[in-house]
Amino acid sequence: MVRQSRTLFFALLSAVAAIIVPRQTNDGVHLAITPACGKLGGNFTNVNAGIVTSGIKTLVAFGGFVHLRRTQRWGSPTASRGRVTDGPVWAEDVASDLGATIKDYAVAGAVVNVTLWPSKAGQSDFLHQAALFLSQNNVLDPTTTLYAVFFGINDFSATATDGNHLPQAAADLLNQIQQLSAPPTNATNILVVDDYGFGTHAAIGDAWKQAVFAGLSTLRTQGLNVAFVDFAPLWDGVLGPTPGFAAFGYENPGNCIPNAQQTDLSGECATPLNSFYWLPSHPSKETHRIMADYVNLVLANCIA
Ligand SMILES: *[C@@H]1O[C@H](CO)[C@@H](O)[C@H](O)[C@H]1NC(C)=O
Ligand SMILES: *[C@@H]1O[C@H](CO)[C@@H](O)[C@H](O)[C@H]1NC(C)=O
Ligand SMILES: *[C@@H]1O[C@H](CO)[C@@H](O)[C@H](O)[C@H]1NC(C)=O
Repeated sequence: MVRQSRTLFFALLSAVAAIIVPRQTNDGVHLAITPACGKLGGNFTNVNAGIVTSGIKTLVAFGGFVHLRRTQRWGSPTASRGRVTDGPVWAEDVASDLGATIKDYAVAGAVVNVTLWPSKAGQSDFLHQAALFLSQNNVLDPTTTLYAVFFGINDFSATATDGNHLPQAAADLLNQIQQLSAPPTNATNILVVDDYGFGTHAAIGDAWKQAVFAGLSTLRTQGLNVAFVDFAPLWDGVLGPTPGFAAFGYENPGNCIPNAQQTDLSGECATPLNSFYWLPSHPSKETHRIMADYVNLVLANCIA
């Protein structure tokens, strides 16, 4: 009898574990820091001013770099269906956590306004992504739609060649959000995510982040619900000493696949499930999962 109930207990336990474990373990990678929260109106910080996630049915994602689909050349086992990572990206994870459908307009290499950056000629930008969205005549209920905006990484990298046009890029980004908030879209829930330096910090980058943040504070006074997520502490936590990559469950704070352009698995690292990046500078699916956890924590806890 004792044995039987013990068997039953373990059967139940493993049934429960089967439901919970895949999400919890994330191949041993977990968020080892808690995002700090603040308020709008001052220095940039994590904040959620007004976005109620419980009713969100659609996540519309604009951006470059991280939540993206590589359009061609990438049908290899390194990446399912043309991806630059080995699984879901953070915006897909967030959408799935919300029980929402994702409409993803993000494209690799995208900047805010490509005209500002001669070295990025031919790349996607927020203006084109928003124009594509508008051309589709999507009719999305503003109250159940969350618009995610994630630019800056490619803009920041372009400053090395093209000079510092980040102040203009910040203004153009805010202007584009303002346009989405007007008819016909009437966007009311805006999530802006930043990771401009990918672990590096620069005065011009912080000024960009501050300009975007200040603009969101203004949009809030105009009645929009806005959230800002700053990934810099996550990158600092993994790549710096406190708490360091091992605390997150990474074996390797670098990339697993040696070359961003290769289309096979040659040179794959020994710990593909525990690398911070999959391709050079492209987060692994485990990293995307903890990025999503970070976003979720900001949205849930940083209510201002
Ligand atoms: C913003 O940051 C600066 C420099 O770190 C600091 O001196 C200032 O007090 C901060 N302002 C607010 C409102 O937190
Ligand atoms: C994009 O940048 C160019 C060059 O500065 C500028 O003329 C144009 O107005 C910008 N477009 C938008 C929509 O912000
Ligand atoms: C946006 O607002 C305008 C009127 O201000 C309205 O005609 C339009 O249907 C609204 N669009 C959506 C998607 O709610």
